[in-house]
Amino acid sequence: MHGIVLAGGTGSRLWPITRGVSKQLLHVYDKPMVHYPIATLMAAGIRKILIITTPEDHDAYKRLLGRGEELGVEFHFKIQDKPRGLAEAFLIGEKFLEEQKCALILGDNIFHGSGLGRQLMDYTNVEGAHIFAYRVADPSQYGVVEFSDSGDVLSIQEKPEMPKSNFAVPGLYFYDQNVVEFAKSVLPSARGELEITSVNNAYLEANNLRVSVLPRGTAWLDTGTVQALHDASSYIKILEDRQGTKVSCLEEVAWRQGWITDDQLSSLAIAYGASPFGKFLVSLLEDGNEREK
Ligand code: TTP
Repeated sequence: MHGIVLAGGTGSRLWPITRGVSKQLLHVYDKPMVHYPIATLMAAGIRKILIITTPEDHDAYKRLLGRGEELGVEFHFKIQDKPRGLAEAFLIGEKFLEEQKCALILGDNIFHGSGLGRQLMDYTNVEGAHIFAYRVADPSQYGVVEFSDSGDVLSIQEKPEMPKSNFAVPGLYFYDQNVVEFAKSVLPSARGELEITSVNNAYLEANNLRVSVLPRGTAWLDTGTVQALHDASSYIKILEDRQGTKVSCLEEVAWRQGWITDDQLSSLAIAYGASPFGKFLVSLLEDGNEREK
């Protein structure tokens, strides 16, 4: 399975912060926002990842991430020249996908929970589409899932004024190799975007969509507003300070996956110089908690 991170968009809810820099390059506590969704894909075992950016920020993402070889992964980069919607990812990524199955994650979505990576690995061989539902206080800014009494999915509505449930669709989606064809059949919505909800509804109509409710113990944060960005930073800070760990550290994920050796991790630690990340990577090697979660 290949992965796509959508890191384009306008970020208008964060203006003026995002007038000069892409939202997903902003930091969430101690690392760039885009590291979190990349770590989620890597934890699911995905090693070939396309990052879709705006034209202006393309070089900055390449500078930040490189080609990925020192993490045992491949990063590829493509431009979305205008924010025409999430489903355009599959049109931009068609060649990259090589008719493989695909996970799409939004560059401003953070997932954190015990055993989440292992759980997500189950979906990498998906037939049809597999998406998630997550209970939130106010779902009206998201796709909203309507369930029947027996738990079947009846509908998914994009940003409804009157949500039919409190279950929002988080920005992490798994699709089989038919997703490109489904995306090609989608027409722009009233707001002029190729909606991911339209792709999901196309799978639903084909009776080929599964929705799993993410457990309450899993955190799903999006970082699209100043308040949400601040809250996400606080959440990561509190966890990391309390536990003496790091959330979504790309080098750690690669090492735990067995994609890089102890010696390679050690070299990456040295390359961090005076940054606390170097010390953290050394502590992984010293702790003797090798490759346990
Ligand atoms: P949004 O938060 O819906 O949009 P945005 O990032 O442009 O922000 P705002 O609403 O404040 O203007 O986007 C969700 C994620 O998807 C985010 O990481 C940006 C990304 N995105 C794209 O890469 N291309 C697109 O066409 C859209 C709509 C979003």
